[in-house]
Amino acid sequence: MIGHERIHVAECESTQLLLKPDAPEGTIATTDHQTAGRGRLGRRWVEPPGSSLLLSVLLRPPDASRPQELSLVAAVATAQAVEAATALPAQIKWPNDVLLAGTKVAGILAELRAGAVVLGIGVNVNQTEAQLPLDTRTAAGSLRTATGRQHDREQLLRDLLGRLAAAYEGWREQGLAAVHAELAARDLLRGKSVVAGGKAGRAAGIDTSGRLMLETDSGATVVESGEILLEP
Ligand code: BTN
Repeated sequence: MIGHERIHVAECESTQLLLKPDAPEGTIATTDHQTAGRGRLGRRWVEPPGSSLLLSVLLRPPDASRPQELSLVAAVATAQAVEAATALPAQIKWPNDVLLAGTKVAGILAELRAGAVVLGIGVNVNQTEAQLPLDTRTAAGSLRTATGRQHDREQLLRDLLGRLAAAYEGWREQGLAAVHAELAARDLLRGKSVVAGGKAGRAAGIDTSGRLMLETDSGATVVESGEILLEP
């Protein structure tokens, strides 16, 4: 059902703004260029026209669910699609980044709107090194900088939608347990020294509620979400 209805425009401010909350569940919005692309924590998401996969999906999760888990569900589907396209291992940096060879190639933004979730996924596909932003916390990369060749954005979209539909269905039935093994296998932070949600410690995995587990000097704790700084 995800992607059966599609809005595509050549250019827009943000695909997040193209989906009205009363649209059918699974409606997607795509564009070739955003003039005011949104990142997490109020940041901008910037790309040269025609270089990226820029996608928003409207989902209406069940009342009793934890919609904040959807960015991890989307991160798993995106990592799988990126890995299938490149034949390189894709990792997830909790809570929402997808990395190839240590560079961030995709990010997820989940926004709540009147009971619906607008899930935004941006994948850097065909940017050259010179076209990537320099001012990012995690060095930016693209599928092209990782593989040395160009990739078909529509093919990546089709594959990603199939994987997202499967992960979302699993999540609706079983919650995060449906993707937890995939998350654990791709967890970039595990074992690393980090500062997360203002707490310093060693990342000890992602729990079954999607929280980052931390071992700190004063004991074990969890972080709901927030900024992650990797310690050198
Ligand atoms: C992040 O890593 O901070 C999240 C980035 C999310 C970017 C995507 S691109 C498609 C959708 N439209 C937006 O304006 N943002 C998301």
